[in-house]
Amino acid sequence: MALRIINSYAKNFVSEEELLSLRPTAVSALETVLAKNGAGNDFLGWVDLPQNYDKNEFERIKIAAEKIKKSCDALVVIGIGGSYLGARAAIEFIKSPLYNSLKKDTPEIYFAGNNISPTALTELISILEGKDICVNVISKSGTTTEPAIAFRVFKSMLIEKYGEEGAKDRIFVTTDKEKGTLKHFSDEAGYETFVVPDDVGGRYSVLTAVGLLPIAVSGVDIDGLMKGAQAAMSELTDAQNANNAAIEYAVLRNALLGKGKTTEILVGYEPYMLMMSEWWKQLYGESEGKDNKGIFPASVVFSTDLHSLGQYIQEGQRNLFETVINVKDPGASFTIPNDPANVDGLNFISGKSLDYVNKTAMMATLIAHNDGGVPNILIELDNREAYSFGYLVYFFEIACAISGYMLGVNPFNQPGVEAYKKNMFALLGKPGYEDMKLELEKRISNN
Ligand code: PA5
Repeated sequence: MALRIINSYAKNFVSEEELLSLRPTAVSALETVLAKNGAGNDFLGWVDLPQNYDKNEFERIKIAAEKIKKSCDALVVIGIGGSYLGARAAIEFIKSPLYNSLKKDTPEIYFAGNNISPTALTELISILEGKDICVNVISKSGTTTEPAIAFRVFKSMLIEKYGEEGAKDRIFVTTDKEKGTLKHFSDEAGYETFVVPDDVGGRYSVLTAVGLLPIAVSGVDIDGLMKGAQAAMSELTDAQNANNAAIEYAVLRNALLGKGKTTEILVGYEPYMLMMSEWWKQLYGESEGKDNKGIFPASVVFSTDLHSLGQYIQEGQRNLFETVINVKDPGASFTIPNDPANVDGLNFISGKSLDYVNKTAMMATLIAHNDGGVPNILIELDNREAYSFGYLVYFFEIACAISGYMLGVNPFNQPGVEAYKKNMFALLGKPGYEDMKLELEKRISNN
């Protein structure tokens, strides 16, 4: 297994008996996922995706990635939520959070259409000046406001720069297979399209073209990534396996919730964990946060945040637990230099590796937070290679499905996301929303 769960830092808070008593519920939740007979079963295409993916499209993704690498200095990936977080997480985790600034023979990759910020868009346009650009717009529905606005901007920029014909070679569209407006429009315009399968929701879509095309452009080995996901699939869909890490994780977090631990903080010790945590927050937040239920997903990167949120975690409200990702081989080594003057008094660690100090900080923090009343689930991951990333993604997805069913929610819908959209459309004056607009404007002026 590329990944292991260590529960020794949670044991003071939940007994072995409590964990054992929850296990049958977790096993039956996994069986429900596999039998595809639970709530939201129309959206379970991701479960066997690591094996049953479209092999022809996978090859097309590689060809398109090579084309983008050859013809573009920069790729602009347009998408929001599940349509960008997975790709960004993978590129930062496997390559680097500083990917764009590193020396490399692959294009820079920028993410747009994930906010409505005029500053972000203006800055990106100015960064792209003079560069050859390709665009990958990703939207399953094709109608999401944020990416649709960004696509308008970049599409016309490309047409102006390269002409209609030239733009065709530089615009890649990842969307619904046949129903959506973006698919029809792209076919008419002659853009190459890739598919978000009908039965795969946005937050479970990183192993489809949604994630794979931008990830391949960054030079990540997507075959290795799929192999990792395949290994996870064969190990973690075995409901009878006593060491099934997904079941263990789902059991632990539900047991902790039962003890009043309503917030889970995903902890990384490397800056490359930041966007992985953002992906994880969407996965768990959108999957579980409904029907007045759920565990609130938060995240930190230590030791950075030990100097900001560390105080709260140590001594604030005791409704927290942490899930710590320990990447055994962080992918780089650095030795702490000796300083003859020893001004900082740190010569006792000179000659030690930085990773040794980082891991020591982790052990010290695990114990301190445990002593402060915060249970910790430890997830050990071999390394930050594509294989391990693929494994980790599938692990979190299947554990999320199990956990959601244990909670008694449908982990595959997100009805709550519509509320702000309806209000925004009404206030913006979208046709058909006239009455709502009047009512909302009244409420705003009364406030
Ligand atoms: O998980 C989800 O379903 C959402 O985060 C969507 O991915 C997000 O809202 C973007 O939707 P779309 O791909 O239709 O533009």
